[in-house]
Amino acid sequence: MRPVHRWVWGDFDRRVRKLIAFAAVEGDGGRDILRAAEVTSDPLLRRLYLEHAIDELRHADLFRQRSAALLRLRPTRSRVLFDMSPLPGGHGLDDLSIKGEPDHVLLAFLHVAEKAAAGRFAVYRDVVGDDPSTRAIFEEILRDEVFHMNYTYAQLARVLPETHRRQVWRARASRLWKRYLRIVAAVANLLGIAVLTMIYFVVLGPFAWLAKRAERREPVGWTRVAQEDHKSPKSLY
Ligand SMILES: [Fe+2]
Ligand SMILES: [Fe+2]
Repeated sequence: MRPVHRWVWGDFDRRVRKLIAFAAVEGDGGRDILRAAEVTSDPLLRRLYLEHAIDELRHADLFRQRSAALLRLRPTRSRVLFDMSPLPGGHGLDDLSIKGEPDHVLLAFLHVAEKAAAGRFAVYRDVVGDDPSTRAIFEEILRDEVFHMNYTYAQLARVLPETHRRQVWRARASRLWKRYLRIVAAVANLLGIAVLTMIYFVVLGPFAWLAKRAERREPVGWTRVAQEDHKSPKSLY
């Protein structure tokens, strides 16, 4: 995927859109982890979740500030600052939701997501070599993500010493399933557009031609009604 990432980050507009999208994902993730800190009954995890949430919110700030700086440098050509890419833009935290799940489920999810994030940010850092400030941000965030990846695994092993590996595999499978659904939904969307476009050009043309032909056979103006139908209507039916 490295050439794809190079292509994505090579364009100024896409770079800005990506940074804005990352700021949103990191901010959402930070708020969710803050919620996890509120609901956990484990004091050590509460402290670690708080540190983690502060890191994610700082990442959101860093991405937002960098995208704003780039925009000040040169406004983007397109006015749409929404990333429509069906490729998994998330580096994990975008799928996070705190629904009163036990700590081991959240820790396994976070570990898998942070590992993916660390891998992604290492690639992004390498492909934005022409932009030292953005590169420095990825470098800094990457260090935090590696810490998040390691502490979540260590804590998972603490709270679930027997079956923590199985829990990680379960989280990995769930993540893969969500990715699959996202890609399939994007493909279904493309197929829907293709089929509707085809119907528009293939069916609508002949239908319009037949309608015009039928219209020519219709008499113009008022038409005399047959005598037996001439009575006043007494009811709707
Ligand atoms: Fe982060
Ligand atoms: Fe993180």
